[in-house]
Amino acid sequence: MAEKGKLYGIGVGPGDTELLTLKAARILKTVPVVFTPKSAKEKESIALSIVRPVLEERKDYKRLMLVTPIFPMIEDKEELEKIWTSASEMIAQYLDSGRDVAFITLGDPSVFSTYSYLQKKLKGKYEIETVPGITSFTACAAARNEALVEQNDVLTVVPKIDDRLEQILEYSDSVVLMKASRNTSQLEQIIEEKERPKDIYSVQNCTRENEKVIEGFSNEKPYLTTTIIKFKDD
Ligand SMILES: C[S@@+](CC[C@H](N)C(=O)[O-])C[C@H]1O[C@@H](n2cnc3c(N)ncnc32)[C@H](O)[C@@H]1O
Repeated sequence: MAEKGKLYGIGVGPGDTELLTLKAARILKTVPVVFTPKSAKEKESIALSIVRPVLEERKDYKRLMLVTPIFPMIEDKEELEKIWTSASEMIAQYLDSGRDVAFITLGDPSVFSTYSYLQKKLKGKYEIETVPGITSFTACAAARNEALVEQNDVLTVVPKIDDRLEQILEYSDSVVLMKASRNTSQLEQIIEEKERPKDIYSVQNCTRENEKVIEGFSNEKPYLTTTIIKFKDD
């Protein structure tokens, strides 16, 4: 029986291919199978668009196996569980046949990534290596040439409004609002109403060709939008 393959979970950074790590590029130049997740059939895989120039440099590019599982943006936990199980089974088939698999993921694999759910299902059964990538929110601060946190600042990362927000805002110095396309005007209002002096900016499509840095919250919210709030108390 063939020796099992190894799974690489690769963070591909926020958008600019030059922000891929050397390690990610090295693995992507040799691995026989690359999983390139996307959110809908008619959409492109953003992660694939980032690594495509590296893959296209491969002499064996035409023989490279690209697998594109679809992970719809839904919140139904049962449905998601089924989708993650089926995707992890697909990865397992390649690993069982002795082929190494790279699963590419936007930004860093440890920050709100589908890879983490699949990885949990395969842990213990296969060799796994997770390769970190530049996360979007540090890239967003860099787009403004600003620090995200300094000295004793406390950083909070918020994916969605919930009833902890009021309290969190009291104790955070910098707040990163991810998945901003889901943020409601209610959340924006809660933040605006805080009496602490603050600087708010949003970055759309950070490090991609169509990057936009906007003061305050952004009215249009493409999927790749992150808002940063820096409280300035002194
Ligand atoms: C599912 S999360 C993935 C986060 C990713 N693992 C990371 O480390 O950045 C998707 C959210 O990340 C943020 N994001 C990812 N890439 C971005 C970019 N290039 N510009 C702005 N925000 C981005 C947005 O808030 C987006 O809704």
